[in-house]
Amino acid sequence: MQPSERDVLEALRRVRDPELGTDVVSMGMIKDLRVEGGRVSFTLELTTPACPFNEQLKEEVLRAVRSVKGVTDVSMEVRSRVPSTRPQLPNLAPVPGVKNVVAVASGKGGVGKSTIAVNLAAALSVMGARTGLLDADVYGPTVPRFIRDYRVPVVRGKDRKVEPAVGPNGLKLISLGMLVEEETPVIWRGPLVGSAVRQLLFDVDWGELDYLIVDLPPGTGDAPLTLAQSVPISGVVIVTTPQQAAVAIAMKALRMFQKLGVPIIGIVENMSYLRCGHCGNVVRVFGDSWARRAALEAGVPFLGEIPMDPEILEGSESGTPVVFSNPDSEGAKALREVARRVAGRVSVLAVGR
Ligand SMILES: Nc1ncnc2c1ncn2[C@@H]1O[C@H](COP(=O)(O)OP(=O)(O)OP(=O)(O)O)[C@@H](O)[C@H]1O
Ligand SMILES: [Mg+2]
Repeated sequence: MQPSERDVLEALRRVRDPELGTDVVSMGMIKDLRVEGGRVSFTLELTTPACPFNEQLKEEVLRAVRSVKGVTDVSMEVRSRVPSTRPQLPNLAPVPGVKNVVAVASGKGGVGKSTIAVNLAAALSVMGARTGLLDADVYGPTVPRFIRDYRVPVVRGKDRKVEPAVGPNGLKLISLGMLVEEETPVIWRGPLVGSAVRQLLFDVDWGELDYLIVDLPPGTGDAPLTLAQSVPISGVVIVTTPQQAAVAIAMKALRMFQKLGVPIIGIVENMSYLRCGHCGNVVRVFGDSWARRAALEAGVPFLGEIPMDPEILEGSESGTPVVFSNPDSEGAKALREVARRVAGRVSVLAVGR
């Protein structure tokens, strides 16, 4: 007996995307299905190249099709098409070509936002997503320090659009630190900060991006406010260190984003522990993980613990993020895992909203 298209679709309807919880047919992930005799060919369209469950999903899909009676040969192509976000406020114009803006924020300063933003962008680009990184910390831009190997931005055309810098792996970068001298102090008041953030978003020709990561300054000031009121944001990643006091201030920032209608992607805890280079023992320098507890209480995902790792510091100091320079170090692995969770959750938010 020869299988029909319906038989194949029926089998595929039993395969659920582990993260989205919906079957792959209803999600529209099966494209170009052709059944000719016992030969079945189709394309599986994933919602992100960086999903932690992609391998599992591919296997389940193949198994389901192979289990259909009469199927002798299966050819599956896999591609990914990142869905774009819906705005948190009405009438927000998206940045042209940019599917998802992901903000990285914190309550306190110095907790590792920029480190995480830079490595998140690096990890997503390594996984094959078209990624950009916008340094919205106009007072203390750090992106050009943390990624030093880039082709400088240029201003082009009649409309004076800025072509962003291009870093390793085609990562697109922009920072005020690339456009003004590093030693020049920025002494702007609120409205100017807002317009600088808007210019970095809209006067830059980002091209086609799956993810634009925005590294914010600490706290709940003008930059996060402007961002939330200027463009659709897929979600915000809140970074904190483990101590109770830091977490309490991080939760304030989290609540501000919630009030502005911005979805929370989750909380990342940085500097959770230190592994002794000699004996391998783990020392929780800042004590228990208050971030995990706070995430649970607030009903938002806990995205993972990043160790205090000399390799991470070295990556920032040398200007090559650890995810590029030493991807198998403990710190880089933790950062890559966080990146996969962020991508997965952005898909869930984009599909579910
Ligand atoms: N997990 C880590 N292990 C080792 N060093 C780290 C880690 N996270 C951050 N650092 C280092 O700590 C310093 C502060 O990090 P970073 O600049 O990313 O913080 P920030 O939150 O962006 O600060 P700011 O509030 O000033 O923007 C940097 O020197 C960075 O390299
Ligand atoms: Mg920073």
